[in-house]
Amino acid sequence: MNHALPGEPFPSPLAPLYCAEALLRRKGYESLAREIAFHIREGKILELGSGPGLLSLELARLSPRLEVVGVDPSPGMVRLASHLCRGVENRVRFLVGGAYRLPFPPSSFDMVVSLGVLHHLQDLPRALKEVRRVLKPGGKAWFYEVVMDVRPEEIAGTLRELEIPLFPFLPLFLLEGRLAVRAGRRLVGLKRGDFRRGALAGCRVERRGALWKVVVKK
Ligand SMILES: C[S@@+](CC[C@H](N)C(=O)[O-])C[C@H]1O[C@@H](n2cnc3c(N)ncnc32)[C@H](O)[C@@H]1O
Repeated sequence: MNHALPGEPFPSPLAPLYCAEALLRRKGYESLAREIAFHIREGKILELGSGPGLLSLELARLSPRLEVVGVDPSPGMVRLASHLCRGVENRVRFLVGGAYRLPFPPSSFDMVVSLGVLHHLQDLPRALKEVRRVLKPGGKAWFYEVVMDVRPEEIAGTLRELEIPLFPFLPLFLLEGRLAVRAGRRLVGLKRGDFRRGALAGCRVERRGALWKVVVKK
């Protein structure tokens, strides 16, 4: 069942292409997984918009006491993620589902994480409400997002910090950013102003170069 609004899921036929690109920046997923696993050592964690599942996979590998569930509205992504996670499938699983109606009962998760998904969500208030519903009382959600209208040096600094190769990713991000700004569409990430508007306005935001983290508490 697809719970997302139309037009948002990543097209299934392009999922292997995205996955190939994501594998080239795998170190970045490892680095974020270390940060998350440092914060939460055990419990149940949901990755929202898990795509090819690389962040969930790293989390499951790092922390044997974490149970990880990834949801994504793209069936192609979910198939890929389920395939890549062979070997740790007793602690990580992937489901087709979207942010607007998560297929879980209330208070199911100790933490929700997501990377590069906020800019896909047309109805952010609804998604945040749903995330709060599935979090246990006292639980936290961390939404990582690449910010497109920061200086190129900040993008380069973030790539270095996450051990993602500058080539091809710096020119790729700069090009995608230009296109996104010109087209007025959110192709790769949000713009700085988006964090001061609408549902994100009241949220705590931790800025680290071009990668910003929105923190939501229940
Ligand atoms: C840029 S990809 C990021 C994938 C993954 N988080 C990663 O970093 O590799 C964005 C993902 O968000 C998913 N997505 C789009 N709309 C969504 C929604 N309404 N709820 C949850 N995920 C959504 C897409 O299908 C896609 O897999």
